[in-house]
Amino acid sequence: MSYGIAVLPGDGIGPEVVAEALRVLRRVEELSGEEVAFDLESFDVGAEAWRRTGEAISDGAYGACAAADAILLGAAGLPDARHPDGREAGADVIFRLRFGLDLYAGIRPVRLYPGVPTPLRDTAGGIDYVIVRENVEGVYAGRHGGSRVEGEVAADTSIVTRAGTLRIAEAAFALAESRARAGHGRAPLVTCVDKSNVLASYAFFREVVTEVAARHPDVAFEAVYVDAAALYLVQRPATFDVVVTENMFGDILSDLGAGTVGGLGLAGSGDVGDAHGLFQAAHGSAPDIAGQGIANPLATVLSTAMMLDWLGRRHDDQAAHRASAWIDAAVATALGDGSALTGDLGGSAGTSSAGDAVLRALDTVAAAA
Ligand code: NAI
Ligand code: MG
Repeated sequence: MSYGIAVLPGDGIGPEVVAEALRVLRRVEELSGEEVAFDLESFDVGAEAWRRTGEAISDGAYGACAAADAILLGAAGLPDARHPDGREAGADVIFRLRFGLDLYAGIRPVRLYPGVPTPLRDTAGGIDYVIVRENVEGVYAGRHGGSRVEGEVAADTSIVTRAGTLRIAEAAFALAESRARAGHGRAPLVTCVDKSNVLASYAFFREVVTEVAARHPDVAFEAVYVDAAALYLVQRPATFDVVVTENMFGDILSDLGAGTVGGLGLAGSGDVGDAHGLFQAAHGSAPDIAGQGIANPLATVLSTAMMLDWLGRRHDDQAAHRASAWIDAAVATALGDGSALTGDLGGSAGTSSAGDAVLRALDTVAAAA
């Protein structure tokens, strides 16, 4: 099957890491005998585009994203490209796509690959869980609705709706079920993370998630306060499977999780809704290392593997599933033998040599399949 992919390289290291991800996509296309193929079209978005044109994402680029089968993003934003009110211009890209295409589920795997340094002492039980972040409600829903009174008072409103919570909870339980089906080896478990002991909106969130849990008796369920969750994700990460949580908590905990498994350079993510999916590394444009050829491309490569898995599910396409598994296995191999370890992981590979290492491993993985 052939897929139309809207490619948004963006700012800073975005174009550098996307270039490696595209080499990987082209290689799996070849290795699959074009059973899975890609029609790639790139669009100029982000802070640099905003400086040139006054728009971080044009209507044309947005329309192409809406029409594509999936979207692959590098990173958008530069700290000194700001609107007069102080908000970053590059952030318009992700917010327009997230809200416009209703990408309500932020899927953020936290997985420790062999060979990757972790700051945790005891990882005998492995680390392999997914944070499912509600992406369009919560504290961030009020991005344009916060208020300031003179120089004295500021307030934001957190939005938690029944419909929004039902669908993110269903997504979390469906993920736990599909991980179990895929032979993940652990009893399926959903952990609801909230602050229901203090705030009404979080108590409501927990109530609705608990209601969904009752419809999934095959999946174990627990609820944990967010402060304790931050502790447990460090102390006993092996006990988590799928974590479902409100927007801001998901944002914060997914960086914490990434910190336990090698950092942002390995943190892939998907922003998905019922009709659209956008895949990108969890990191930003890293202007401090842009243009040096040292950025870790693997978070973006792993995001393309997530994209293929999502396309495979949507289109019931085994070739796409296979390609996704190849990429994942190739990344694991290239990390395990050290050939893809970039500076952030304590190695000496550069961006393109890490990409080369994944391509070599892909050939081996596909030949063995
Ligand atoms: P950042 O994620 O770009 O960088 C944080 C730190 O991690 C930096 O020290 C950077 O060098 C390092 N880092 C990040 N990705 C790396 C990689 N692939 N390989 C090696 N090291 C890596 O976050 P920061 O500095 O807060 O933001 C920079 C810009 O990116 C800002 O304009 C921000 O708004 C934007 N941003 C965009 C995001 C997106 O497109 N979804 C997400 C987060 C930030
Ligand atoms: Mg974040």
